[in-house]
Amino acid sequence: MTTAVIELQGVTFTYPGDIRALDNFTASFVRGRRTAVLGRNGSGKTTLFSLLNGLQRPQSGQILFDGRTIGYDRQSLLKLRQAVGMVFQDPDSQLFSACIYEDISFGPLNLGLPENEVRTRVERALTQMKLSGLENRPTHSLSFGQKKRACIAGVLAMQPQVLVLDEPFAGLDPVMAAEFSAILDELQRGGTTLIIATHDLDLAYAWADQVIVLQEGRLLADGAATEALVRPDVHAELGASPIVAEIAAVIALTGLDVYANGYLPRSRAELVKSIAAKTKGESTR
Ligand SMILES: Nc1ncnc2c1ncn2[C@@H]1O[C@H](COP(=O)(O)OP(=O)(O)OP(=O)(O)O)[C@@H](O)[C@H]1O
Ligand SMILES: [Mg+2]
Repeated sequence: MTTAVIELQGVTFTYPGDIRALDNFTASFVRGRRTAVLGRNGSGKTTLFSLLNGLQRPQSGQILFDGRTIGYDRQSLLKLRQAVGMVFQDPDSQLFSACIYEDISFGPLNLGLPENEVRTRVERALTQMKLSGLENRPTHSLSFGQKKRACIAGVLAMQPQVLVLDEPFAGLDPVMAAEFSAILDELQRGGTTLIIATHDLDLAYAWADQVIVLQEGRLLADGAATEALVRPDVHAELGASPIVAEIAAVIALTGLDVYANGYLPRSRAELVKSIAAKTKGESTR
């Protein structure tokens, strides 16, 4: 059964100056799934994320966590933020300590965990995000990608049920992106719900179970990545389609069945494998 861990019902959020960032927005994030949120610049992704852990409060509509409307008193927010970990788009708005060791330990210390547990979690997060050796360097001296990794490490050390990441792959080099992707796989296997915002359609197509597409603060599409991202209206709004879907569709026109056995390639590697298997099969026939 699919259960929503976070649900937004008719949510409207307006910034001062009458800037409507979300307009009667309804969507659910399913427990244990990976969801990618897409939309053009200014479509409301970051605003949506700031509502998910109670950083902002909608003027109308409601947000439910585990089936209950979220509260905005100190205690409720504290509990919500333990459950919903957030990595912001801009690392400079997230890091506030002199060095990243301090930054990463801040959350676990605030949870009141024993010192050795804090140390274990921080060291594990530093190793996961390949930051060992940089932990005592002044935060401002780190590169953009290193800072982004430190923000991710900070949230990993909190071990939240839901991980909300605003453009987590932006700024990571390809090796780090692949390693981080493997970390996300492992977290999902452990039951963590993953929600990311991204402009990378190919990544969303390959990675996400569910995609949500925003258009000027409204919901344009909500469904399986393989269906939603090839919709003509979504293509028109985002200005592109996933390259793997485009190539697979063109190859299918030549008569080569890249969709064999109901297998739909979602990544470049899967597409190459599928074509290789098919052409080999055909040439030996
Ligand atoms: N602090 C703010 N004050 C006023 N308006 C804001 C504020 N933050 C965002 N907005 C406006 O709200 C709308 C949604 O912005 P948001 O940052 O949520 O978009 P986004 O989808 O995350 O964009 P991007 O892809 O550029 O990160 C935009 O029109 C933006 O200008
Ligand atoms: Mg944003």
